[in-house]
Amino acid sequence: MTNTVLEIKNLKAEVEGKEILKGIDLIINSGEIHALMGPNGAGKSTLGEVLIGHPNYKVTGGKIMVNGKDITNAPPEDRAKAGLFLAFQNPITVSGVKISSFLRMAYKNLYPEENMSLKDFFNMVKAVMKDVDIDESFISRSINDGFSGGERKRFEVLQMVILKPKIVILDEIDSGLDVDALKLVSAEIKKMYNQNVGFLIITHYQRILKDIIPEFVHVLKDGKIVMNGDRTVSDRIENEGYDWIKE
Ligand SMILES: Nc1ncnc2c1ncn2[C@@H]1O[C@H](COP(=O)(O)OP(=O)(O)OP(=O)(O)O)[C@@H](O)[C@H]1O
Ligand SMILES: [Mg+2]
Repeated sequence: MTNTVLEIKNLKAEVEGKEILKGIDLIINSGEIHALMGPNGAGKSTLGEVLIGHPNYKVTGGKIMVNGKDITNAPPEDRAKAGLFLAFQNPITVSGVKISSFLRMAYKNLYPEENMSLKDFFNMVKAVMKDVDIDESFISRSINDGFSGGERKRFEVLQMVILKPKIVILDEIDSGLDVDALKLVSAEIKKMYNQNVGFLIITHYQRILKDIIPEFVHVLKDGKIVMNGDRTVSDRIENEGYDWIKE
């Protein structure tokens, strides 16, 4: 199993001229589970978007590196090729692009040397759809078009499993999922964890962290990581909120 390390060094970023990330330091190795918590508006989603290279955000300082390679200004495709994947908090609708063609294209871009037949590829996709309980008929639907909140989250997980990333950022994957779906999603995360994938799980709730126990819990407040600890931190947040954590 190959190892991958994502290193974030003093990362600063702004959107619309407003500084959101104010110097983030974080290292995520493959095979590690990190949780990222913090109040609304702290910058958690911004961090995810900046890591995968969303064009709305401007990096104004610091570095993002994967296995020592600087990807701070790399296009999103290169970051995906380096092994990064983000499941969005609010996955957007892409009308007119079918899930089948999107997945096939994304997979081909990532693994051009594999030359998997169309039949084998879609058999693989269907097997994962079964695992996350998405009906096969979804394969010919447009991306997220008319999807319910939970269906959108399941589709993010489907992409995660199909695209075989090395470091996964899950932005509130647990919000909007019903109890059964959360179990299925947790099972997929565990499978990938056992295959040495590293995770950054952004969440507000203990529920998912009871199932997938993080080794590290980080708290982001006003664009800065104000605490690095273990799972006891998330226990305390559940009971006491964020007031006890000072910058
Ligand atoms: N395009 C934008 N223009 C202005 N401000 C923005 C823009 N995008 C994000 N922000 C601001 O950046 C801050 C951080 O947002 P972000 O989505 O990263 O928070 P979060 O920690 O993920 O919060 P939540 O827990 O609610 O998901 C917020 O105050 C938000 O309003
Ligand atoms: Mg968010």
